[in-house]
Amino acid sequence: MAIKEVVKHPAAVLTEKCTEVTEINEEIITLLDDLYDTMVEYDGVGIAAPQINVPLRVAIVEIGEERDILEMINPTVLETDGAEVDIEGCLSFPNLFGEVERPTYVKIEACDREGRVYELEAGGFDARAILHEIDHLDGVLFNSKLIRVVTEEELAEMYGEEEE
Ligand code: CO
Repeated sequence: MAIKEVVKHPAAVLTEKCTEVTEINEEIITLLDDLYDTMVEYDGVGIAAPQINVPLRVAIVEIGEERDILEMINPTVLETDGAEVDIEGCLSFPNLFGEVERPTYVKIEACDREGRVYELEAGGFDARAILHEIDHLDGVLFNSKLIRVVTEEELAEMYGEEEE
């Protein structure tokens, strides 16, 4: 386990379609652990393997009230529904925040570290975070979907009073 350097935009590895994982071995387990350590270190709610320079279809995201860690190996989107605009950021864009439209519901299929295939349904910000990370695996970055950039001043106004 280790904290890795986060690849910042622009970088080729961030805009490539990542490769499917064919075998869940020590390398993949270490990758999942490194993603976790790196996400925690840099205070993200999700991170994808290409963001630590590994072009494989692996990503993690914090979901639910308890901020449980969802590990996604070879995730695919089975279903989406709804649409909502909300603010996103990305560890690969340290100073960029903005409004992105995403579905309000998503159903995915993915593999966990034990090699078990699972299905998961999520809504709201969890759906948003999951779809943001899966986009990374297809080389799609949130800046390409930005409707409006939100300034740091606006962010402070929106969240400043809540963060005591
Ligand atoms: Co991101």
